[in-house]
Amino acid sequence: MPQDLTVIVLAAGGGTRMKSKTMKVLHQVGGRSMIGHVLRAAQATEPRRIVAVVGHQREQVGAHIHSLVADAVLAVQEEQLGTGHAVRVAMESLVADEAPATGTVVVATGDTPLLTGESLTAFVAEHLASQAAVSILSGVVDDPFGLGRVLRNDEGDVLAIVEEKDATAEQREVHEINSGILAFDAAFLADALPRIGNDNAKGEYYLTDAIGIARGDGLTVSAHPIDDVKQTEGVNDRAQLARMGAEMNRRIVERWMRDGVTVMDPATTWIDADVVLAEDVTILPGTQLLGSTVVAEDAVIGPDTTLQHCEIGVGARVVRTHAELAVIGSEATVGPFSYLRPNSQVGARGKVGAFVETKNSVIGDGAKVPHLSYVGDADIGEGTNIGAGTIVANYDGVAKHRTVIGRHARTGSNNTFVAPVTVGDGAGTGGGTVVRDDVPPGALAVSAGPQRTIEGWAERRRPGTDQARAAAEAVAQSGPHEPGPDDQPS
Ligand code: UD1
Ligand code: CA
Repeated sequence: MPQDLTVIVLAAGGGTRMKSKTMKVLHQVGGRSMIGHVLRAAQATEPRRIVAVVGHQREQVGAHIHSLVADAVLAVQEEQLGTGHAVRVAMESLVADEAPATGTVVVATGDTPLLTGESLTAFVAEHLASQAAVSILSGVVDDPFGLGRVLRNDEGDVLAIVEEKDATAEQREVHEINSGILAFDAAFLADALPRIGNDNAKGEYYLTDAIGIARGDGLTVSAHPIDDVKQTEGVNDRAQLARMGAEMNRRIVERWMRDGVTVMDPATTWIDADVVLAEDVTILPGTQLLGSTVVAEDAVIGPDTTLQHCEIGVGARVVRTHAELAVIGSEATVGPFSYLRPNSQVGARGKVGAFVETKNSVIGDGAKVPHLSYVGDADIGEGTNIGAGTIVANYDGVAKHRTVIGRHARTGSNNTFVAPVTVGDGAGTGGGTVVRDDVPPGALAVSAGPQRTIEGWAERRRPGTDQARAAAEAVAQSGPHEPGPDDQPS
């Protein structure tokens, strides 16, 4: 049930300390943009709407927000005059749309990737229960430097938030900080915003001045310290981005271990926020499970494997592999040293072995491409075995073509399939065959010509070399070779 709740997410600032052409809130943590994490948390509160304040690079940021929350309202803040100004822009854009905020307004920032829906929902509940005009999600931290401090009187009542730059030495000793997440009674907020000035150290309109205003009006103000303060920690530079990434990963890995996944080395295992793992999956060291990857029961992944947007079947084994947008069937084995490019499908009990690259191909149930091959734009039927060192030549220099190999075929080593070409069910090819023409079911195709053997060639053409000497020594030991019927006259 949506409540009468509006969540405003601030994302207009430039994030200059990131030193990046990508806007800060679009940088990823756990495979999801930072603002994506905040929007997820916002959605969990079941708000009537989400308003994002955008400014810098508003086209990219706005488009990204709409890709995640299609009905999010975008409010454009042309100039970043402070958090109070940003929220005013958001509130006024709702008024302009003839849908002014009523009930409760929550303000969050777009750069706190660890924030969870549970925490934000709990905070909204606490705010409503306290019947405060404004509530602060606060936190007690070891190092409060740079953050707004929550000032309380001797009775513990919240009086104000003072920003670092405006604080006295004594106020800077306070370790209870403003997380930047605030909840307001909408009517109070609309009334307070125009009363916020910018006569302060930064010359900005501070949203946090609303706390002092509420107190002055004799209204209730409350602050709710969050135990897990990391959830409200913002990211300002790349070092913090990496720390938050590691922290998010630690949390994700812990959660999967609690849910029955064996992780041999949590420190070298990276799992994105959207990955889904089943019970009794085993992850070996050096593994990255990225994007929308899904792994089914009893699969063993790693060591040293990266899977992005992949689907791995029950009991599959994926060793030292790099795969993207690939589907690996149940009980299939892949690797070591395999490279599965987008749209690769390996059937149940199929095999893709060492130094094999696949792309846009279907390898049927029980089919095997065991060694040193490239398989692109191909369909390989059930139970077929592809010989070592096979190249599917899918590209004629202009266009890509498909190769179709039927069921239970046996192809020789070092074959080249020149697409488009079709090999029938149960067909075979000899070693070194260049398959340019279709092979009917059950036929054997051989294209390598008969071998020519030219006796005494090394002595005649490479006299005085190690090659010629080795040949002469071998002949001296075993006598000259008796020419057979296939040998060429020398
Ligand atoms: C703010 C709080 C501070 C709190 C801290 C937590 C104020 C005045 N101070 O300080 O009490 O401890 O967050 O991180 O609110 N933004 C806009 N438009 C603007 C200004 C800011 O969209 O005009 C956005 C920024 O992109 C950023 C967020 O609001 O995501 C916070 O703004 P910032 O200037 O970083 O505030 P802080 O100094 O961190
Ligand atoms: Ca900040």
